[in-house]
Amino acid sequence: MTPPRPVWREPLAHTRADFPLLERTIDGHPIVYLDSASTAPKPRCVIDAITRVLSGHTANVHRGVHTLADEITGEYEAARLRIATFLNASPAEIVFTRNATEGVNLVAHGLGLKADDEVVLPALEHHSNFLPWRVHARAVPVGLSEDGYPLYDDVGEALSNRTRLLALAHVSNTAGVVAPIESWIATAHSRGLPVLVDASQSASHVPIDVRALDCDFLVFSGHKLLGPSGIGVLYGKRELLERLALYQTGGGMVRYHGNERFEVHDVPLRFEAGTPNIEGAIGLAAAVSYLDRLGMDTVSTHSHALGKHLIEGLRTVPGARVVAGSAPVERRIALVTFVLDASGLAPESVARLLCDRHQILVSGGYHCAHILHHRLNLEGTVRVSASVFNTHDEVERVVSALREIVG
Ligand SMILES: Cc1ncc(COP(=O)(O)O)c(C=O)c1O
Repeated sequence: MTPPRPVWREPLAHTRADFPLLERTIDGHPIVYLDSASTAPKPRCVIDAITRVLSGHTANVHRGVHTLADEITGEYEAARLRIATFLNASPAEIVFTRNATEGVNLVAHGLGLKADDEVVLPALEHHSNFLPWRVHARAVPVGLSEDGYPLYDDVGEALSNRTRLLALAHVSNTAGVVAPIESWIATAHSRGLPVLVDASQSASHVPIDVRALDCDFLVFSGHKLLGPSGIGVLYGKRELLERLALYQTGGGMVRYHGNERFEVHDVPLRFEAGTPNIEGAIGLAAAVSYLDRLGMDTVSTHSHALGKHLIEGLRTVPGARVVAGSAPVERRIALVTFVLDASGLAPESVARLLCDRHQILVSGGYHCAHILHHRLNLEGTVRVSASVFNTHDEVERVVSALREIVG
């Protein structure tokens, strides 16, 4: 007799109706979208917010002197306030960027680092939180365990009198585990060093309170947080933002421009040169409001439950090897990368098969983390990543599809 199937709690299954993308089919079958770490589907309220701005509220911000310009400037700044509240920051500390990558580059550029200055980071960081530090200074990676989990406790050994900053992902896009950022922040601050937290993968899975964390900078992209692409956020403590060198110059960030000199606006506008992504900012605020309505505690409980389910499911797939599989399961979010040794297939081929045979959409490749894959001697991994609308039933489907692929 087959054992009874466990009854899964699906506290967010009702959200599926909010995502038009989930109505898509491939070869007549509904898709299973498990690629939100790459970019997430958008709920209808985000789509509606953008459409509303584009159809009835087009005007430039901080420039015009007419009713529509006043309205849109108000909405743009309300979006900043909305996002500040989400992070427990003040609006002056929220800079709108293009994405997380631009946020890291802005800080790496603005700190005025010298070539022999050092930035300490885990070796598995995404290219976007690695290369900017390499370009502007020297990146000093903290080692990894055999299965790719960062040896966070070794941070002290990586610090030197040349260290200028610590940078780490709140949740790595390959390990899928909430990092002990509090201990890195405490270590850094005990030496008077700032910390940049890359919240690209965490911001839509776990609550973030920048004041409680006391982090100095934090970045994320809108498109992974159920918002539009082309918009991101850099949070920085006001006094630190004020000390950063200008990143880009042009219209919008300047208060006065005369023959002899120019005068720039205070933060955050001094970092928003040129016409910003107005509808992107308002769409992102709608995404943040949506997550808040669901409740970040509920979202986080669901993500942890799906992450645990994924790990347990992968244990039943012969030869599945999980990156950072030794990490504490209770710190795992709904994002897992792995290889299928027994399949003899490249990760890209596994992802292709999942799509073509099962309409399950996942990532396959290096996930912008080459150093991690080189250290683990892997030519890529498969990544399954869920969001609020995914269900335990879908986790079961991907696990059984993987079992079928292994054969
Ligand atoms: C952990 C992490 N950091 C940074 C990024 C870069 O995000 P974006 O390409 O939106 O700038 C990503 C994107 O995959 C990521 O997963």
